[in-house]
Amino acid sequence: MFPSHRPRRLRGSAAMRRMVAETEVAPRQLVLPMFVKEGATEPVAISSMPGVVQHTRDTLRKAAVEAVQAGVGGIMLFGVPATRDAVGSGGVDPDGVLNAALRDLRAELGEDTILMSDLCLDEFTDHGHCGVLDDAGRVDNDATLTVYAEMAVAQASAGAHLLGPSGMMDGQVGVVREALDKAGHIDTGILAYSVKFASAFYGPFREAVESQLDGDRATYQQDSGNVRESLREVALDLQEGADLVMVKPALAYLDVIRAVREVSDVPVAAYQVSGEYAMVEAAAEKGWLDRRRTITETLLSIRRAGADVILTYWAAEAARWLR
Ligand code: PBG
Repeated sequence: MFPSHRPRRLRGSAAMRRMVAETEVAPRQLVLPMFVKEGATEPVAISSMPGVVQHTRDTLRKAAVEAVQAGVGGIMLFGVPATRDAVGSGGVDPDGVLNAALRDLRAELGEDTILMSDLCLDEFTDHGHCGVLDDAGRVDNDATLTVYAEMAVAQASAGAHLLGPSGMMDGQVGVVREALDKAGHIDTGILAYSVKFASAFYGPFREAVESQLDGDRATYQQDSGNVRESLREVALDLQEGADLVMVKPALAYLDVIRAVREVSDVPVAAYQVSGEYAMVEAAAEKGWLDRRRTITETLLSIRRAGADVILTYWAAEAARWLR
């Protein structure tokens, strides 16, 4: 019995495989997350993320220009402040490290690159939570929203094109949209971290931002097993005015990316987070995985699942490979 159908015909040569490829990753779809550390005079290595650093304001500018030259579509900026307090004042302060560095980058990069900023308090609070706490020490949703509104206006004024509210507070997208509109920032968009799981994969990021968190974020980030809840979060964010919706982490949640793609009429982003980066880098360093092939495969998988945009610490390097 010989087969009457021969799918292998379409795999017989590189030219044939190239022609029939269903999914592509383009540099313009990649966004590079970057860290800037207040008062730093030298870039500081992040040991659990080999190749990623906390930048000084100067090296940030240079590295951002290089990423843009490599072809990335955007940059997502995180600030690491020198001092922290209970309410995260450094995030609201127009001269706080994140806002100051946003201003630097907007001046340096202009309109050709999409500049995004993390809109969250965890880097700025001395307890490391994504919001302010009430008297009982719980994260106070509505008091946090007031701070986010102020922070949003500061980031928009500093030049961010897209704000990324990542604190998983209820109503955050609506409150940020209203604050932006009231302040006249009608063209500043919102990349909503709609679906953010309470994930072990954020481990290395905690080192990257010198997080002060003791405990977890289970009262505001989602449990890993839930997908209906993710769709509800997406629906609410769309109703509140999200311009893009994001799923995070990426590789362990490809089914969620697909489910969100199917209900969302705005672009879907996915964040390949610090732990996903660290895992591949560590295995590659040991010689257990082919680094470039593995990275390429993960990016392709995230696109195949339905993401239009991918935030990844490999953005600049992958963009160079893909050009
Ligand atoms: C919150 C934020 C986190 C990440 C992005 N934004 C940390 C968290 O929610 O605990 C994680 C990103 C990564 O792991 O690469 N500001």
